[in-house]
Amino acid sequence: MTNLLPNYGRLPFALVKGENTTLTDDVGNDYLDFTSGIGVMNMGYSFEDGKNAVKAQLDVLSHMSNLYQNPLQEEVAEKLSYGGTYKAFFCNSGTEANEAAIKLVRLIKPGKKILAMNNGFHGRTFGAMSATMQEKIQAGFAPLVPDFTSCDYNDVTSLDKAVKTGNIAAIMVECIQGEGGVLPMTQEFADALKTYQSQGILLVVDEVQTGIGRTGTLFAFEQFGLQPDIFTAAKALGNGIPTGAMLTLDKYAEIFSAGKHGSTFGGNPLAMAQANAVLSNLTEEFLTEVRQKSNIFLTELSKSLSNKASVKKIQGIGLMIGIVLADETKLSEDLSKLREQGLLALSAGHDVIRLLPPLVMSEQQLSAGIKILEEVL
Ligand SMILES: Cc1ncc(COP(=O)(O)O)c(C=O)c1O
Repeated sequence: MTNLLPNYGRLPFALVKGENTTLTDDVGNDYLDFTSGIGVMNMGYSFEDGKNAVKAQLDVLSHMSNLYQNPLQEEVAEKLSYGGTYKAFFCNSGTEANEAAIKLVRLIKPGKKILAMNNGFHGRTFGAMSATMQEKIQAGFAPLVPDFTSCDYNDVTSLDKAVKTGNIAAIMVECIQGEGGVLPMTQEFADALKTYQSQGILLVVDEVQTGIGRTGTLFAFEQFGLQPDIFTAAKALGNGIPTGAMLTLDKYAEIFSAGKHGSTFGGNPLAMAQANAVLSNLTEEFLTEVRQKSNIFLTELSKSLSNKASVKKIQGIGLMIGIVLADETKLSEDLSKLREQGLLALSAGHDVIRLLPPLVMSEQQLSAGIKILEEVL
């Protein structure tokens, strides 16, 4: 008997404890975590700087609304600003960050459309869902928000066609389609986006899953030579404390004038204390280490899995990796076998095992995870 709605396909056990990069269930089994709570716990479960900052803030002031100055928001915004290039709005989740982005696009370029990618994912609220060009996500919710259109990801011909026919205000895109199957953007596609941006179409990059060091840089767009007009973050920004952010180039900041948008909890002192600690830890040195670990991880993983008939290919950037299965009907069985062997992993799309280990995971633990994958697949 449950009093919860059945909108999640939940596994039949609870996780009751997290320590470093290990999770423990309600009957005492330990799991190596290759999920990070779906890309949230990048700093792991024993992130002392964050815990100390949140506990200290809880003792002083846990909430005050956005009617007052908020020095903690200023600090976090500064850390996300790329040296003052971007200004921030804070909210509580990824979908809200994308709602803010969509609303800002509407104000900057009224009466035009937003072009989103087939197979992308931007969230479950109406605007973000309308940008999520997946039948299974949108089914049953019509009428959706109008003036969204779509093209195929990584298909420049499809992009060109959509832009030509579309009266397009903005292109909304992920640098790696996360939920869609851990599919990285090609440099050719990124360059085409850059060209359209130079012609006045806004570039909106959803970094909700790829951001906060996940791919080895603070945000993934850096690796494609992109400078978005707007980008969004959430998930790992709060390392377990719900928070989200929408960042926009300084020149558009004034358009979000007082009263245009808001959130009671957005940029709440507890969330900002945590985000500040997260971003303070994402030093160049830390990110370099993530890239090094990722290189070793990908090399080892390829060595262990590339000869397997069950594996079609391995794709991803940094510590956001997808193992594409040869037989998609094996996906949930494989995930359950991995769990039995003590490894938690995720699905993505219809045929991908998605690996999102905490960025603080040791090389030894990453290797231990690969060993389990090698045994099961
Ligand atoms: C790329 C991307 N955008 C947006 C979202 C929605 O974020 P949230 O679940 O915090 O609303 C997700 C969630 O998985 C995501 O991966």
